[in-house]
Amino acid sequence: MTEEFSWTGKSVLVTGGAGFIGSHLVELLVAAGARVTVLDTLASGRRDNLVSVSDSITLTQQDIRRVAWTQHLSTHPADVIFHLAANAYVPPSVAFPSFDFETNCVATFRLLEALRTMQWPGRLVFASSAAVYGNAVRAPIREDDPTVPISPYGAGKLAAERYLAIYGALYGLEVASVRFFSAYGPRQRKQVVFDLLSKLRDNRRSLVIHGDGTQVRDFLYVKDAALSAMTVAARAPMSGEAYNVGAGREYTIDILAKSLCEQLGVSPEIRYTGVNRPGDPEKLVVDITRLKSLGYQPRFDFEEGLATVVEWFRETTGASWE
Ligand SMILES: NC(=O)c1ccc[n+]([C@@H]2O[C@H](COP(=O)([O-])OP(=O)(O)OC[C@H]3O[C@@H](n4cnc5c(N)ncnc54)[C@H](O)[C@@H]3O)[C@@H](O)[C@H]2O)c1
Repeated sequence: MTEEFSWTGKSVLVTGGAGFIGSHLVELLVAAGARVTVLDTLASGRRDNLVSVSDSITLTQQDIRRVAWTQHLSTHPADVIFHLAANAYVPPSVAFPSFDFETNCVATFRLLEALRTMQWPGRLVFASSAAVYGNAVRAPIREDDPTVPISPYGAGKLAAERYLAIYGALYGLEVASVRFFSAYGPRQRKQVVFDLLSKLRDNRRSLVIHGDGTQVRDFLYVKDAALSAMTVAARAPMSGEAYNVGAGREYTIDILAKSLCEQLGVSPEIRYTGVNRPGDPEKLVVDITRLKSLGYQPRFDFEEGLATVVEWFRETTGASWE
């Protein structure tokens, strides 16, 4: 692309837009001047995640497994689609693999089929995951490293990515995948930052950490995750390629726990279980050179991001460490 892409007046569909990453993406798109439609079942997403933009967007409560896409897109035309609606976590995919397959893989395929038959001229960004790599062969992980998923979730994301690439190559659709690593931020009601805060709310004097605290992760602030997806939609070649999305920085779980304790003003006795949770790799870090080649740099500092989560957690749960 030669001209700088502008979001002003663009029609954008965000599936899963009431969820954790989706709701931040919707807010940023609205702020950038886009006209946004959200399609979400509100299964794990919430209407109140979108409260700040509720007057500016259209929210349709529908299931991606059953949407009549051709009809939907003719009544709600979209220049850009961010496809985030999914079963977003590994454990449900292990317990209910067919539910995960239908939601993450088949529904994405059906969307692609509709776009192919409509000869849709827009751009589609698909939310994939670090889970496509399985047990990473090296750190940091690069996009051309082997993809050997070890969960139905990872397999479904990888299959969907591959369909995207094939539909790009064979039918000329403009498509790309973003492989999110560990995003964190306000509105996330799962995963390590939320779990640590919940434990410290219940007991500020002692904290149990899985493993030995040396596990290394890349923590990406949710707004950076959303801005990365916007950068890909605006600047990428969109020929079916995938982008790692992370902060490109390494933190141990110990550093995370200690930063949180400092922000809360608590000093619990920390105990380690000594054993990682099943499927939790020791090191999960990411090379974001490809994303940076589009001109993207993560903007949010780790401590600054944690402070916003702490504030959100206090407000929504009423927790207090005074
Ligand atoms: N959060 C992360 O760190 C992370 C990491 C890797 C990949 N991802 C991917 O990013 C995307 C967003 O994840 P998230 O963390 O915001 O999760 P989330 O659960 O908060 O968001 C998913 C949204 O999709 C909606 N949804 C679920 N099933 C649906 C269906 N059948 N039809 C319509 N809507 C449906 C949910 O209600 C929710 O609003 C997902 O595709 C997820 O797999 C997230």
